[in-house]
Amino acid sequence: MKILGINAVYHESSAALVIDGNLVAACEEERFTRIKHGKEARVDNPHQLPEQAIHFCLDYAGLRPGDLDRVAYSFDPQLRRAEFRPEWWPDPRWEVEFLRRLDQVADVASKILGRKLGRVLKFVPHHLAHAASAYYPSGFGPAAILVVDGIGEAACSTLLRGDGKQIQTIETFSFPHSLGFLWEQASVHLGFSAYDASKVMGLAAYGDPEVFSREFSTIIRVSEDGYAVDPVAFGFPSFEPKAFENLFGPKRELGAEILPRHMHLAAALQAVTNAAVIALVRRLERKVGLKHLCVAGGVALNCVTNDLIQRETGYTDIFIPSAPHDAGTAVGAALSVHCSERATSQPPRDTTPYLGPQFGEREILAAVKAAGLTPKRTKDAARDAADMIADGNIVAWFQGRMEFGPRALGNRSLLADPRRPDTRALLNRRVKHREDFRPFAPSVLEEHADEWFEVGAPSASHEYMLFACPTKAGRRERIPAVIHEDGTARVQVVRKKANPRFHDLISRFNARTGVPIVLNTSFNDSEPIVCTPAHAIHTFRNTGIDALFMGDIYLTSLT
Ligand SMILES: [Fe+2]
Repeated sequence: MKILGINAVYHESSAALVIDGNLVAACEEERFTRIKHGKEARVDNPHQLPEQAIHFCLDYAGLRPGDLDRVAYSFDPQLRRAEFRPEWWPDPRWEVEFLRRLDQVADVASKILGRKLGRVLKFVPHHLAHAASAYYPSGFGPAAILVVDGIGEAACSTLLRGDGKQIQTIETFSFPHSLGFLWEQASVHLGFSAYDASKVMGLAAYGDPEVFSREFSTIIRVSEDGYAVDPVAFGFPSFEPKAFENLFGPKRELGAEILPRHMHLAAALQAVTNAAVIALVRRLERKVGLKHLCVAGGVALNCVTNDLIQRETGYTDIFIPSAPHDAGTAVGAALSVHCSERATSQPPRDTTPYLGPQFGEREILAAVKAAGLTPKRTKDAARDAADMIADGNIVAWFQGRMEFGPRALGNRSLLADPRRPDTRALLNRRVKHREDFRPFAPSVLEEHADEWFEVGAPSASHEYMLFACPTKAGRRERIPAVIHEDGTARVQVVRKKANPRFHDLISRFNARTGVPIVLNTSFNDSEPIVCTPAHAIHTFRNTGIDALFMGDIYLTSLT
């Protein structure tokens, strides 16, 4: 059974292909269109489908649209009509427009695929799609599942239970009880965009969470039962920014200085998020029990909270997919339809994040030639790249299939030396142009991870940079470029079987320096992560990257 999954309802538009329960391909639309997050979350565009990601999935598998048995969209208009109240919007007419556009999804999908879809098109509840994206690939037997995001149809957090091919909802926390919206509102108040939760997360380490804890307790109350958001204190239904200004002072303007109160606000938000999510997980423990936990939803990108879940709750193994945010619901929707219609048992464990496009040498050489550059060939890309990194260069590492999810995991990465205190400033000045308070992450060989970081119980999700792990005593000084203000690092554990070439590179770096770690940040400059050789060459030429390796072909800035 061939199922195309689509996420397009809000943002992070994406497509995925599942064949007989196997996840074959998945990709975010932003990588093709070069528009970050695919599109804005607006009431008038849930029918704008990720056309290029859809075609990539089909082409990758050599399928024609007529071969598809099902198309699964990760949002359910029927459920929305049943559970969402139009008065939750500042203007109830927004909901009319939103539903009208949702009703156009079938026509748009038919047009893109060039065939009538009719009953082939299935709508999957949004949080069920999130849950499926985490539970089915986890390979766990019976497991508890937690979904936390901005909003699905009406649910903002959902507790579920997975068992074989079944996923059952236990409890939902509906609008206005949204942790995701709290982060969006805080990001905007702090002078960033609504998508910049990762900046707020970075800033939190510099603040004192106590300063605004009383103010936060008027917005969100955490208890044994979970948490509750006060809509008036929050500024709902109109997302009234005044509500935040009354509590935390004037909104920071874009580019204005970051003051201690901004850091304290971020720290208090992180603290209350930790408390709320831990309360939800404890509730899951009481209601569902079990030893394994799956987590998804945009809030599952919060590495600090994830690390706390691992440390402070009774779950021995936690699985979070590489794309826990909305992009991952394309995978979840497809797997969910497979399990409800066809499967006799749970789909096979599948934890690879390398699900996107890949390019052969002929395509790489053609792109180099088109750019008017002279390619060089290496017999040992891993060794040469490792040597350049150890010599203080910034190396772009473009290999194999692109990652699915927001983090570069060694196939579309920029790599640098973690030992040098000035690496962060160098990267920001020459390529990334990010705020200096934001940390860079380390990629560490699996064999040595425990010697450097408090990784805790092993989880496949440690391969996705989803946990902020404390650094071991005496190690911090040796890798200053990848340690955050609070002494943690957003570690990617690199397993040889999962990514042999990247593992080889770090092994060579270790052999030369005695440090089994490289700094790894996404290969981009203020735009979506590069996808094709042409994107890679464009970014290489327009920034201060010293060398670009694509397969066994490389370019240096000196040629
Ligand atoms: Fe979501």
